Amino acid sequence: MLKLDERLSLCAYFVREGVSLADIGTDHGYLPIWLLLNNKIKYAVAADVRKGPLERAKSNMERYRVTDKVKTVLSDGLENISADDADDIVMAGMGGELIASLIDRTPWLKDTNKNLILQPMTRAEALREYLCLNGFNIKNEKACISFGKTYCVMLVSYDGTIRQCPMKYKYAGTLDCDKSVEARRYIYAVTQKLKKKLMGYEKGTEEYNSVEELITELAELIDMGEQ
Ligand SMILES: C[S@@+](CC[C@H](N)C(=O)[O-])C[C@H]1O[C@@H](n2cnc3c(N)ncnc32)[C@H](O)[C@@H]1O
Repeated sequence: MLKLDERLSLCAYFVREGVSLADIGTDHGYLPIWLLLNNKIKYAVAADVRKGPLERAKSNMERYRVTDKVKTVLSDGLENISADDADDIVMAGMGGELIASLIDRTPWLKDTNKNLILQPMTRAEALREYLCLNGFNIKNEKACISFGKTYCVMLVSYDGTIRQCPMKYKYAGTLDCDKSVEARRYIYAVTQKLKKKLMGYEKGTEEYNSVEELITELAELIDMGEQ
């Protein structure tokens, strides 16, 4: 039986029961395969911009005998996917800026009935900022630890409300209210990255002070989680 790691398991957790799913940047195709094997979804479109990963997905789908309920599509982002193909759309394992640009190029995602499940590998802060400023609501966000690394997964849908995106929200999202070990570890990893960034700024400048202040705020969250 196929087993997902913690990162893909968390993506799977956010997918609604009985939906049609689009998995953008599917690579091996494990997420739609697992969801089909576990009868959580009715149908899937697995898309990738490269032929190699798509072939890999196809052969895994044959191996797990789910080919009747999934189609593979060569597609740059959601270019070759239509609104009717998917209720829930997963974009996992890609950079936050790339995910933001793929959303931006797909106007039909501005639909309150569609759920986006987003798992940025890098620049999660850029993705959160894009979502806030473009009418997308992060309805839930959770962190996980997989093979010693921390990841966040966001459950997002469009509601048309343009939101402010203060620094703390940009870097911690709604994880600031989450006292789980995973969320604290995620925020800790973010502070470590920010400390490296701080070294590139001149002490006393506005940029330096705002990053230093953010690190202090985030460090307080970690301490609160340990109480
Ligand atoms: C690291 S893999 C992630 C695989 C899987 N989603 C996961 O999270 O384990 C990233 C995949 O995204 C694909 N990709 C990159 N840019 C893309 C784009 N613009 N449209 C669709 N797929 C893309 C790559 O070809 C690659 O197969």
